[in-house]
Amino acid sequence: MDHTTRRYNGPPGQEDMPYLLTPGPLTTSQGVKAAMLADWGSRDVEFRKVVADIRNGLLAMAGADETYECVIMQGSGTFAIEAALGAFCPSGEAKTLVVANGAYGDRAAKILEKIGRPVVKIDKGDSAAPTPEEVGAALDADPAITHVWVIHCETTSGIVNPVTDIAKVVKGRGRRFMVDAMSSFGALPLDMRDGLDVMVSSSNKCIEGVPGFSYVLVKRHMLEMSKGRSHSVVLDLYEQWKGLEANGQFRFTPPTHALVAFHQAMKEHAEEGGVEARGNRYARNADLLVKGMRDIGFSTLLNDNEAGPIIQTFLTPRDPNFDFEHFYESLRMRGFAIYPGKLTKRPSFRIGTIGKVDETVMNGVLAAIRAVLGEMNVTDLSPLGA
Ligand SMILES: Cc1ncc(COP(=O)(O)O)c(C=O)c1O
Repeated sequence: MDHTTRRYNGPPGQEDMPYLLTPGPLTTSQGVKAAMLADWGSRDVEFRKVVADIRNGLLAMAGADETYECVIMQGSGTFAIEAALGAFCPSGEAKTLVVANGAYGDRAAKILEKIGRPVVKIDKGDSAAPTPEEVGAALDADPAITHVWVIHCETTSGIVNPVTDIAKVVKGRGRRFMVDAMSSFGALPLDMRDGLDVMVSSSNKCIEGVPGFSYVLVKRHMLEMSKGRSHSVVLDLYEQWKGLEANGQFRFTPPTHALVAFHQAMKEHAEEGGVEARGNRYARNADLLVKGMRDIGFSTLLNDNEAGPIIQTFLTPRDPNFDFEHFYESLRMRGFAIYPGKLTKRPSFRIGTIGKVDETVMNGVLAAIRAVLGEMNVTDLSPLGA
């Protein structure tokens, strides 16, 4: 298929491409796209200043004081996750507890197994929230657990886990606390000083950059202690940090265009009003979408008090005329790319409410959904398998 000849029919602003209503890559601003129309030399002073600004800006956004460092890693979010797990999680008798309630918790546990670091799991299935009490009980029952890994927004369902309450029980018991804030950082409040030793996120989420790199915010003394611990050469966080500190350069080719785009995205994030304003826009998107979908007849997986403003999971309707691939493709041709479900038990699909999108786009996708359901002759929207 030649996408260059396509004519999508969504609201204006995204030229001839559909809005990405996904957890990323997501729709970016014209300013972010325009920032990539230049070729920067990775050794040059201007580029090194961009990298330094990004590292300092991320620390400031996370409320991190001078005891923290920011290390940027080439690659998608999972690269920084594997780098952090390999740098900080123990081997031998000590263990890491992964608090899992979806695919990203499962993936962290899988990485630890693969790299030979002892791991135990609290497994809440697809979408139940872990409580601080059960994390506390797991730590009390097993003194060999020295590190805890939690997902902030589990993008599998969109649920927002109570990380700051879990941080209290973890730090109260003298353990290390590590957070995957991939899909939340920049939109949901998160302060490193609330007991976070490590936080990981990436370029193409709520700060609204393009894919290409991920980053780890971490207590400096943990980084110092991680020398020689990594299972990998390219993912060695300590060596990456040392390289950046020595001359402001990456050890290996950096994604220059993604970095300058992110620099611009950080400026636009500040101009919008920072984390609070970004989160408020996403919350308006989510409220409008969920209300509109419920008016049409769809059911959400989560209750309103569990679902964050990042991505919304809708249960597949039982009507035999509903076919997800048809639904997806017809919406895409109208200018909106949605996202398949990732639940292991219930058929579902997801619609992201992050990226450079607003009420006009949400109203647009709702109108398109109504039209496509009419076209498919879908009338029974009660959930399949309920
Ligand atoms: C919470 C969370 N963790 C990890 C990842 C993995 O990131 P990537 O696909 O960029 O490797 C994602 C991706 O959406 C995510 O939402």
